[in-house]
Amino acid sequence: MKIYKARDYRDMSRKAANIISAQVIMKPNCVLGLATGSTPIGTYEQLVEWYRKGDLDFSEVTSVNLDEYKGLPRENDQSYYYFMNEHLFRHVNIDMNRTYLPDGMNMDSAAECARYNQIIHDVGGVDLQLLGLGHNGHIGFNEPNNAFEKETHCVDLTESTIEANKRFFASADEVPRQAYTMGIKTIMQARKILVVVSGEDKADIVRRAFFGPVTPEVPASILQMHNDVILVGDEAALSKI
Ligand code: F6R
Repeated sequence: MKIYKARDYRDMSRKAANIISAQVIMKPNCVLGLATGSTPIGTYEQLVEWYRKGDLDFSEVTSVNLDEYKGLPRENDQSYYYFMNEHLFRHVNIDMNRTYLPDGMNMDSAAECARYNQIIHDVGGVDLQLLGLGHNGHIGFNEPNNAFEKETHCVDLTESTIEANKRFFASADEVPRQAYTMGIKTIMQARKILVVVSGEDKADIVRRAFFGPVTPEVPASILQMHNDVILVGDEAALSKI
């Protein structure tokens, strides 16, 4: 694992965006695995800025997102589709026909998971997967568990995730209780993984995930077994390692 220590959130975002840009420049028709959440927002902003300057071209890029809430339509401003559009897609020249997220409005979980697995397979797998890290060690919506879930599946969100995400909704009651997420196997099959972490509140989980035992109780700990992981964090998030 490579660890890059950034001065602050802005520097973290720039470093992460540099790694994504390098991927797009080296392989213009690459498959990017994308994440939502607050941590990558600055990374997307930086990518948009470089695109506007003419330094980046997304026209041949395919993207597959990690996850989506089940039951939220795309137009809902808390859906991950909406997020991706707001923060990246509508600002760059990515072909929207090649941007994929699980369909939160497909209530048939088995069918939706099978469909999404097939998409990831058909696009040839993920070249670079961007990940944030949950306070409980989740990646995507792979929550602490007694086994690692493999492929795309439907999850019941834990209380701590509902609690963490309620800031985006009018109340905790409005946070969806389920989500579709890529599984741990899917994430581990990405050829390169980029994890972004920011803030002192992530320092403990960064230590447990990357320097503690590999256990499904800390889903991100499996990343220790991947041979090409880059962790980019600001000083606060890396302060306990
Ligand atoms: C987002 C996702 C989540 C977040 C994680 C960290 O697509 O799958 O695992 O990456 O919850 O979220 P933030 O960045 O808001 O701390």
